[in-house]
Amino acid sequence: MSLIGNLDDFPDNSAHGIHSGGRALLIVRSNTQLYVYENLCPHTRETLDPEGGSVASSDGLLIQCQRHAANFIAQTGECVGGPCLGESLNPVPFTLSGGDIYLD
Ligand code: FES
Repeated sequence: MSLIGNLDDFPDNSAHGIHSGGRALLIVRSNTQLYVYENLCPHTRETLDPEGGSVASSDGLLIQCQRHAANFIAQTGECVGGPCLGESLNPVPFTLSGGDIYLD
């Protein structure tokens, strides 16, 4: 397992891109829950956050691609609007231990 951060690094209702081991990942906090996805939009296979910063909606329920505005459900990664409608972000298995986030 590899450590990729701590919950304290990622405020609730946010979605931030990070790089770990050559992979682009998206760390999503949504209403106190944690989700990790590959940071690759199904539409073009590019990262969702070329402008940087959080790509979560203010209520934390959606993730929005900064490139062409696709919306994904934070909890499932499913695209519910935009050019990749019906496709999904790829979930990345992780383990949470004492607030630390490890990739499985
Ligand atoms: S690259 Fe994400 S919506 Fe087009």
